[in-house]
Amino acid sequence: MDNRELINLAKKAMENAYAPYSNFKVGAAAVGKNGEIYTGCNIENSSYGATNCAERTAMFKGISEGEREFEKIAIVSTSQDLTFPCGICRQVMAEFMGGGVVVLEDKDGEIKEFTVEDLIPKAFLL
Ligand code: THU
Repeated sequence: MDNRELINLAKKAMENAYAPYSNFKVGAAAVGKNGEIYTGCNIENSSYGATNCAERTAMFKGISEGEREFEKIAIVSTSQDLTFPCGICRQVMAEFMGGGVVVLEDKDGEIKEFTVEDLIPKAFLL
């Protein structure tokens, strides 16, 4: 799956974002090692800490289906800026997509790639 198509799937997933508190909608699309795609959106809660980010929604959907390794994840949001994953999502990436790539789109529509290793160097792993 090419990066542009993956970004488009993340945008589609973003349509389902439940973000009435922040109004910041996020979508993600993760590719499992056999090519399976899992999409997700952020899901907020009136108890703010119960919020789940789009990236974790996508990865957890895959993990709950038996997937254990993702090679790529695209992330988009309603922001004009690149939407880098939060620290908790980076930690989950370290566990399930070491060696993987994060795909983001900038405000000019240009696609950028970052390795998980770039985003969470020296991650804690057991
Ligand atoms: N959010 C994500 O879904 N992914 C990120 O990487 C950053 C933050 C969500 C959580 C919350 O619903 C909203 O964006 C504002 O923090």
